[in-house]
This record gives sequence, C-alpha cells and structure tokens, in this order.
Amino acid sequence: MMEGVAFPSVTCKAPVNIAVIKYWGKRDTELVLPLNSSISFTLRTDHLCATTTAAASPTFKEDQLWLNGEKIGKTRLHACLKEIRRRARKRKSDNDKDDNVSEMLNWNVHICSKNNFPTAAGLASSAAGYACLAYSLAKLFKIEGNISDIARLGSGSASRSVFGGAVVWDMGSDSNGSDSIARQIYPHTHWPELRVVILVVSDQQKSISSFSGMQCSVETSELLQYRIKQCVPARLDALIKAIGEKDFETFAINTMKENNQFHAVCLDTYPPISYLNDTSHAIQQLAHSFNEHFKCAKVAYTFDAGPNATLYMLEDTVDLFINVVQHYFPPEVNMNEGPFVKGLPVNDIDSIDECLLEFHSVPRKPGAIKYIISTSIGSGPEVVTDPNESLLGEDGFPKDLKCSS
Ligand code: DP6
Repeated sequence: MMEGVAFPSVTCKAPVNIAVIKYWGKRDTELVLPLNSSISFTLRTDHLCATTTAAASPTFKEDQLWLNGEKIGKTRLHACLKEIRRRARKRKSDNDKDDNVSEMLNWNVHICSKNNFPTAAGLASSAAGYACLAYSLAKLFKIEGNISDIARLGSGSASRSVFGGAVVWDMGSDSNGSDSIARQIYPHTHWPELRVVILVVSDQQKSISSFSGMQCSVETSELLQYRIKQCVPARLDALIKAIGEKDFETFAINTMKENNQFHAVCLDTYPPISYLNDTSHAIQQLAHSFNEHFKCAKVAYTFDAGPNATLYMLEDTVDLFINVVQHYFPPEVNMNEGPFVKGLPVNDIDSIDECLLEFHSVPRKPGAIKYIISTSIGSGPEVVTDPNESLLGEDGFPKDLKCSS
C-alpha cells in the first residue's frame, strides 16, 4: 500500500506481450474464452508498459476507470472487479484473515491507467492495460495465485501479460472458463540472446478492433475452423519445443508461417479484414530477403491487428538488421518525434554488405516507419513503490485531469 494517502492504494506496471501463436476467435464472448491456445513473449516494462493506480475508499461514489485520460465505460472493468471481489471474499472466508480487505469489499474503487507508448501505435495496449488492472486490483485486495483469468475478462491477450518470459494461454475446455488460464513456460532468463525489434508504421487508417474482427472471422471464415483444428495444436508443440531448445531457425519459421496464416484468416473473413498495409508487406519482404541472403532464418516477423511489425531475432543480428531497415525506411527529415531508434542502444555499422542494400523486391520508403523500438524479453508486472508515481491524487481522482501519457 502507498504511504501518504488516506486510503489504500497500489500502483503497478505491466508489460506488453507479442504472440507468436495468435489468439483469434472466442467460443464465449462474455467469459472471453478462446477457440485456440496461444503463445507469446512478454516484453520489458521499461520500454513499453501500462501503469495503473487502483485505490478503494468509502468516499468514492462509484467504481470508476480512467484510461489514458478518458473516463471509460465499465463493462470489462466490471467483469474484472466482480471476479476480484468474489475471490477476495472467498479468500477471507477460507483464511479468516482480517487485513482491511473485508471493509474494502464494501467500498468503490478508482482506477487510473496510462501507457508509456502512444496508444495510437496499436501496440497491444489492451493487453498491458488489463493485465495491469488485474494485477493492481489483486495487490489491493491481497489476492494471490494465478490471476490470468481475471486479466482475461478484460481482454483475452491480457491473460498472458501477467507473467514474464514465454507464456502459453491454454484454451481450456470447461464452459465456465476455469481451465482457460495462462502459465509461464520459460522465465525471461531462459533465452537471454532473444531480442525484439518493433517497427512502428505510419498509419492514418482506423482499423477494425480485434474484438469485432475476430468475431467476424468466427462467423464467416472456414479457414479459421481449419486452422484451430488442424494447424495450431501441432504448431504450438513445435514452438514450445523450439523455444525450449533455443532453436531460432525452427522458432522463426513457425512464427512467420503462423503469422501469415492468421492474416490469411483475416482475409478469409467476410467482408475481408486487412490489417497490413504496403509498408507491412515491404517489411515482410525485407525479412525474407535478409534471411535468404544469410541462407538461414535470422529474423522472424509477426503482426497483430495493425500494420506495425514485431521482429524477433538474436542479439548478434540486431545492429545489422536495424541499420538495414534504416536504409530502406529512413526517417523523414521533419518527423521530429524524438530519437528514431528507442529502447536498447543500437550501433551504427559503417560497412554493410552492398547486397543487403540492393534488394530489388524491397521498395525504399522514406518516412514509412515512424520509429523503432529495440527491446527484449521481460520479467512481468511489478509493484511501483515510489508514491510520487501514483496516478491518483490525495482526493482519489487522477492527478493530471487528462491523465495522459
Ligand atoms: C491479434 O486480446 O485484443 O493481438 O479479447 O477481444 O480484447 P479481446 O482481443 P485482444 O486480441 C488480440 C489479438 C491479437 C493476437 C494475440 O495477441 O494473441
């Protein structure tokens, strides 16, 4: 609990995760139960994260949530809160511990959340946001154990962000969702050479949300039915094995094939959904040309429900790959949005093999990439102990009225 405020309050940070087997399709929209299991890596919180302060007080008139400055509707928050309170009540009756929690159960909560990256970038913000919400509320109400199912009620992919490292979200089979939970398969220390490069692509288009997009795919795509039965189970095994053995080649090929199938399902949806734009396709082409040049898979791309690319690669490839990316997609002179490459330091390479700069199949597109984030695998959500970082003021309302990032 934070010192210096008159009511119990907790602030936490939670990370983004990027799936290598995508969750796409629900069998139950209310409980957020998926039609297939998925795997992801959780990224470091210092480069990309959501921060949330959750507080409870008898003076709060209603449960309220502010997300990136906006007061938002309560449907999904409500589902998470209901489950938090149910578990807190159960825990109390199981242990009969009295630590304020029984009193707090009668109070309303205020929750304020923000991202340290632009939400417009479409970088799995709901995953980090709802994982942070579930984690903060669990800390506030002293709930222990696996809380991935609470995060899941906010947003499916958030279930995986409550753990660090490599994470599997098992689809489960119970109709009440009791076995649809995420688990860590490897900690962030398992594959320290693995790195992540995110290419934030300029995009003015507003695309269809994951929620509606996947629902439409479930209703109309025959390929989705084939994928979940015939392809995902075997690929899941192959990827878990490849990650376990740190076999980058197998990992990369499966990640890219899975990504392509996921976007094929989007195109097979009626009306079709296309999350990728010309720059995304050019990045895909660059990755394949780069891999062909080295005669092995050096980089693996994956795209979520938007045009931004996430590339997995090993540490020894990062400098060269980012230098090559900057050749094909140099920043526009007037972009003026801070450094072009953010996150972990990247070294300039003076002498790049000319062949890498002359791929005929890759168009040169200045300004097509807004910026690059170079990062790695992280250890999961954490509690913030500095009271100055609380997003709620002493009155229990957002410190910065707009509460913007
Ligand atoms: C393409 O978790 O955002 O990123 O459960 O409806 O909130 P809801 O969907 P969401 O979908 C994520 C889709 C994805 C794939 C993935 O992260 O697994």
